[in-house]
Order: sequence, then structure tokens, then C-alpha cells
Amino acid sequence: MNIGDITLKNGIVLAPMAGVTDLPFRLLCKQMGADIVYTEFCSSNGIIRESKKTFDLIKFIEEERPIGVQIFGEEPHVVGESAKIIYDRFKPDIIDINFGCPVPKVTKKGAGSAALKNLSVMEEMVKSVIQNVPEIPITVKMRSGWSKDKIVHIEAAIMLEELGIKAITLHPRTTCQRFTGNADWDEIKRLKSKINIPVIGNGDVSNKNDYMKIKKHTNCDGVMIGRASLGNPWIFKELTDDNYNSLDRNIMDIVDICEKHFILLKKYKEERVCLNLTKKHFSWYLKGFNNASEWRKKFLKSKSIDDVVIALDEMKDSYYS
Ligand SMILES: Cc1cc2nc3c(=O)[nH]c(=O)nc-3n(C[C@H](O)[C@H](O)[C@H](O)COP(=O)(O)O)c2cc1C
Repeated sequence: MNIGDITLKNGIVLAPMAGVTDLPFRLLCKQMGADIVYTEFCSSNGIIRESKKTFDLIKFIEEERPIGVQIFGEEPHVVGESAKIIYDRFKPDIIDINFGCPVPKVTKKGAGSAALKNLSVMEEMVKSVIQNVPEIPITVKMRSGWSKDKIVHIEAAIMLEELGIKAITLHPRTTCQRFTGNADWDEIKRLKSKINIPVIGNGDVSNKNDYMKIKKHTNCDGVMIGRASLGNPWIFKELTDDNYNSLDRNIMDIVDICEKHFILLKKYKEERVCLNLTKKHFSWYLKGFNNASEWRKKFLKSKSIDDVVIALDEMKDSYYS
């Protein structure tokens, strides 16, 4: 699969996830086999204000390439300008525009999936981004429509292809659905049959079996993985390495990934953020084995990085001795 002139070996993509897909997590997923990783959605308004917090979401290292930076906003010219600032400052491989976020705080201003209610704003926004950043592929991630009776992804995608969008990720739920019900893979299949640019299918892919099913059912070019990667970056190994069997994974692998993730967080995040993210990710890692909840509680009680170091040493000692 190609996005512009970027070739993806397996077409397996880490989904943008706010509060999750920061540098350390993206890097781990990349090392496990993800072909492309995406930043979380970054506010165009924050970018043009040169907000440090927003720029911190975008910073990446060479090892993460190819990487996509996802942006969202309500005003086409601001979104376009923000894309140019990102390109000039960071030189990512792809810029992705978010037309999928269903959160009211975002949509009530006209950003995220609100564009599905107004395809002419979507059109202006995409034109503005493509004009401002002709150097790299621009992609789009969207939901299927605002509500069940207003499914617009095919109409939108035909327009997007004509404008020069290089790939479309479809999460086939409506805005009104948020995360309820199932992702309707039939919509991915319909989309794939209507456009020529690559279609990345997304939604409810939790393991290799789902991956095989969505590929077969929809004929999509790539598959994007979101929630199944939380506490489980190995999912990318499971999907890309035929010799890897997730059942062979043991507690040592979990201890090791906790340590590795913590080291990356310490390296790239300030202390308070490192502590909070360590607790968040460890709560996902430390599940499904004897004493998991004891260890989880211990990390959740940590008040400092030093407390985490002590608890981590204790966990290593208890499993390695
Ligand atoms: C915690 C969380 C944060 C998310 N943040 C974003 C985001 O910033 N941009 C985006 O396009 N989608 C976001 N999503 C949606 C995912 O990218 C993905 O479309 C959705 O989770 C469905 O895929 P899945 O079933 O593989 O999780 C988020 C999802 C979750 C669970």
C-alpha cells in the first residue's frame, strides 16, 4: 500500500488517540511493527498561537517515521495555516485532517466530525491544507456520517479524492453513535469500491482474527488499530509477524515493557506528566495475571518518579528472582 510515495509494507497503522499516542507510546508501537504512527489530534488554533503544549504533542524522533500529524479545527484558513506551520517546523511525512471527533466540545465549534454536516466547509478546509502544504501527502480520517440517516462518507470521499487527498481512514460509526454499537464494516467495503485512493479500515479490530476478517470483508488497503493497542503494543507484532504467538507472551514481557515505557516517559516528558502517564499505561499493562491488581495499586499510589522506580525494582525482583 502506498500513501503518496510512502510505501507501507503491511498497511498497519496506529490510530491517533488523544492522551495516548505520544512519543513514547508511538515509538513502542513502531518497534512492534506499526507501519505508520499518528500523533493525537492537535488543535489548529493552538498551533497558530504557537502553544508549547500543542507543539509538545507533535514532537517526534526520526525512528518514528513515517509519522502523520493529525490536526483539527473549524476555520479552513486557520487549519491550512496550521498545516504549513507544522510542515515548516517538524517536517512530518503526512498531515491528516480529523473529520471524525464526535466530542461536543469540538463539534459545537464546527470542528472534527461537524464537517460531515457541511461538506462545503470540509472542501474548503482540505483545499486550504493542500494548497499550504503541497510537499507531503494529506490524508483524512472520518466517521461515516453525523447520524444513521445522514451517511455521507462516500459523497465526501469522492470529493476528497478529486481534491488530492492521498488516503482515507474510515471509522464507520456515526457521530451520534460515539463508541456505541459496532463499527459497520459494510461501509468500509462500500467506500473501497467507490474510490481509487487507499482506504484504511478502522473500528473494533482487536486481534489477528479480526484483522483477517476486516481485510477479507472490506478489501481495505490498510487497517488502523486504536483501543486494542492500549496496554498491548504487541498487537502490531501479532499482526505483522507470522512467527509471533501472543499466547507465548508472559509476565516477564509485561515487566519489561513497563520498564521500557517508563524509561521513555522519563526521557521525553517532564516529571509530573511522566508520573501521570506511567500510571495510565501501567493500569493497562498490569492486567490478567496473578497479583496484577496489587501491582496496579502500588503504582497508582506512587507520588513521585522515585516511588515508581522503587515499585518497578520490586516488581522486577519478584519475577526475575
Ligand atoms: C482514548 C481515545 C482517544 C482518541 N483520540 C482520537 C484522536 O485524537 N483523533 C482521532 O482521529 N481519533 C481518535 N480516537 C478514535 C480512534 O482513532 C479510533 O478511530 C477509534 O478508537 C476506533 O478504532 P478502534 O476500535 O481500533 O479503537 C480516539 C479513541 C480513543 C479510545
